[in-house]
Amino acid sequence: MRPEPFALERYFAQYEFTAPYLLASSDCDGLPMAEVLAAADDECAALWHDLTLAYTESLGLPQLRAEIARLYDTAEPDDVLTGAPQELIFVAMIALLSPGDHVVCTFPAYQSLHQVAETIGCEVTRWMPREREAWRLHPADLEACLRPDTRLIVVNVPHNPTGALPSHADWRAVTSLVSTHGARLFCDEMYRGLELDPGDRLPAAADVVEGAISLSGMSKVYGMAGTRIGWLTVRDEETRSRIAAMKDYTAICSSAPSEVLALIGLRSGPALIARHRARVERNLAALDAFFDRRADLLSWVRPRAGTVCLARLRDEALSVEALALKSVEEAGIMLTPGTLFGLDDSYLRIGFGRENLPTVLERFEEFLAAAYPPR
Ligand SMILES: Cc1ncc(COP(=O)(O)O)c(C=O)c1O
Repeated sequence: MRPEPFALERYFAQYEFTAPYLLASSDCDGLPMAEVLAAADDECAALWHDLTLAYTESLGLPQLRAEIARLYDTAEPDDVLTGAPQELIFVAMIALLSPGDHVVCTFPAYQSLHQVAETIGCEVTRWMPREREAWRLHPADLEACLRPDTRLIVVNVPHNPTGALPSHADWRAVTSLVSTHGARLFCDEMYRGLELDPGDRLPAAADVVEGAISLSGMSKVYGMAGTRIGWLTVRDEETRSRIAAMKDYTAICSSAPSEVLALIGLRSGPALIARHRARVERNLAALDAFFDRRADLLSWVRPRAGTVCLARLRDEALSVEALALKSVEEAGIMLTPGTLFGLDDSYLRIGFGRENLPTVLERFEEFLAAAYPPR
């Protein structure tokens, strides 16, 4: 079993740490360690001070699992399994799927969400959002993808790369479809919490669908990707144990310092998320103005949540891959071509979770003015 190379991650490996300006990232800026440690309450400060660099509990630090459970309406600490988010996608798919299984997955998608299933030998049907309806993930389209033998439905909301977020009514329709069908739901909720209107936040899948698995983590909305801490919340013990057993073949357990840092981050969660939401709002205002000025070249769908959105080159004769190469080589600005998500070469993903977005955007606009002068 050998998955195809992860196109997006290979591209990031090439440019992320050499390009001085990033319009490509999907996370909020990494928090300074000093800030995290300064936010520790007495319990966390003691945990940090007394920490030994030993193996940790495979399911996760008990206090961390308890803190994670509080993010859900119905979860108990025992319902939580920690690990790196990417690792958890891998072990969950390995644990739950067999060759020949039918899987439905939102597409375009973060590659592992469908690639691991494809590598196992599953048949994957793509549930695609409707671009003309602001990338709406239409429940009727999901229904059309389902088969009587569908085993797993993989959904990513808020959605990377479009920034789409189903309405409450659509989400109710989706969860009731899944419940009636009986297939298992794996819901990647890595960007949950950064809805532009907090009233739009959807209930977590694990809270509303029996046996559903919710994936989330510290990387995106908390700005703590470097901890490599994420979690699965699954209220079904049998499923959780099967997935946990696969982790023995990957990291076994999480890094001890990371667990304590993640605990501190989660205990400061509302303040961190409020700060990041304010940044995202400011950055989207800058993007509004940018896309107004360059409406001759690019169109976009304003996202409803998360830290990424898609733009599109209006002229089909132009290539985003060529633009991205020119941009990184000549202006040091890293972009993410949509082809890395399996889209055609007219799409561009823009990340807007970083503090320096307004200045990077200014540079990008200068670069565009020279390379693609306004018409
Ligand atoms: C939708 C989605 N799921 C999962 C992940 C994996 O998260 P991590 O990089 O923290 O392992 C990402 C990262 O970009 C993502 O965008």
